[in-house]
Amino acid sequence: MKDQTKPHQNGLVRLVNLPQIHDPRGDLTFVEGGNHLPFNIARVYYLYNVPVDSERGGHAHKDLEQVVFALSGSFRMTVDDGKTKSEYWLRDPRKGLYISRMIWREMDAFSQGAVCMVLASHPYDEADYYRDYNEFLAAARENA
Ligand code: TYD
Repeated sequence: MKDQTKPHQNGLVRLVNLPQIHDPRGDLTFVEGGNHLPFNIARVYYLYNVPVDSERGGHAHKDLEQVVFALSGSFRMTVDDGKTKSEYWLRDPRKGLYISRMIWREMDAFSQGAVCMVLASHPYDEADYYRDYNEFLAAARENA
């Protein structure tokens, strides 16, 4: 992969490239769970009408795996496995950021009109969240 080389390009967080069918009528990209992604898609959600100074995320998941795309515009994702933090600027609808379980993520620097789509491995479950950073850190260290 020619994308950014980051400490997190270790399987826990990595960029996923999707196919693009280029056409003068407009480009088309598709994604198949279990083929382009290392999981089957159980849920899709998207963020839109995001104020440019908004900060989202601020949590990790016990089991959930996700791939995050900027379908339009751009934003920054900061990911943290409890040891190392990395930043990714998402701005290409063909390139998603795969985030495995036990990764703290924060999102900010949204461009005007940005649309973020997330493909997730499980349905929504609040019990799967770590919303407290210190609790996440303790669990990440225990897992290491
Ligand atoms: P949250 O995951 O904290 O959003 P973000 O990480 O983008 O800041 O979710 C915000 C709220 O939406 C929270 O009350 C939970 C709810 N929610 C659902 O009900 N279903 C979902 O699939 C998601 C992602 C969130």
